[in-house]
Amino acid sequence: MIHCIIHDIAGQLSGINCCLALLEFENLTPKGKERLDIGRRQSIKQEMLIREVLDAFSAEVRSLESFDIDPKNAPNILNAARQVVEFLTPTFALNKMQLKLTCDVDAATDWRVIGDKSRLERVMTNLVENAFRHSPSESTVVIELKQDDNFIVVNIDDKGSGVKPEMVASLFQKFSQGKGKTGRIGLGLYFCRITVERWGGQIGYFPLTDGGSRFWFRLLKPKS
Ligand SMILES: Nc1ncnc2c1ncn2[C@@H]1O[C@H](COP(=O)(O)OP(=O)(O)OP(=O)(O)O)[C@@H](O)[C@H]1O
Ligand SMILES: [Mg+2]
Repeated sequence: MIHCIIHDIAGQLSGINCCLALLEFENLTPKGKERLDIGRRQSIKQEMLIREVLDAFSAEVRSLESFDIDPKNAPNILNAARQVVEFLTPTFALNKMQLKLTCDVDAATDWRVIGDKSRLERVMTNLVENAFRHSPSESTVVIELKQDDNFIVVNIDDKGSGVKPEMVASLFQKFSQGKGKTGRIGLGLYFCRITVERWGGQIGYFPLTDGGSRFWFRLLKPKS
């Protein structure tokens, strides 16, 4: 039901976007152009948000269906992490923060995991964006990759104030958000959990002893 409503809102929004795009061809005053630009940027943001909601619901539906694991297409998690770092480094730099990737690099190490590349990058991006939003300025967020028997573990550590104790139990549920509401809608961690679990992995959180948070997940290695 919610899926249908959101889907309809998305349809209307794209109609609004078309009208705004056409307005650009009208004879607008400079002030009018400025306001149109603000309106367009806001509606694009809203479109992105709607896409995320729809993705989360679709992923949930798919997670209930059986799926085949294709070891031939198992993505390399080290490459995915490098991609995420490359993509988010400018955002960190702009805020005088650092994003680091650490792992025991060994040419022979196999970093392939059960999953798919684009969703894997989204899971990592969600966790790193959360870490970014809850970190003090000039601090460092560290992504660590580790081998652990049949699994590869990813830790994402920040130097923020940690998750409020009353939120920990519902952290990976839909629409779970802290009072500060620094994020968008509270679907990020929910999406991460259903995705990771769908691939046979686990995800979790614990506070670091010297302050800050560790969000971790682990994914199975394909049998070679
Ligand atoms: N690294 C972190 N440090 C402290 N609190 C966190 C951290 N990551 C998540 N949280 C808390 O968990 C809540 C849920 O996170 P989640 O990613 O699901 O939603 P969001 O970031 O608020 O919104 P969205 O991801 O949809 O944009 C956040 O609102 C925040 O209160
Ligand atoms: Mg988030």
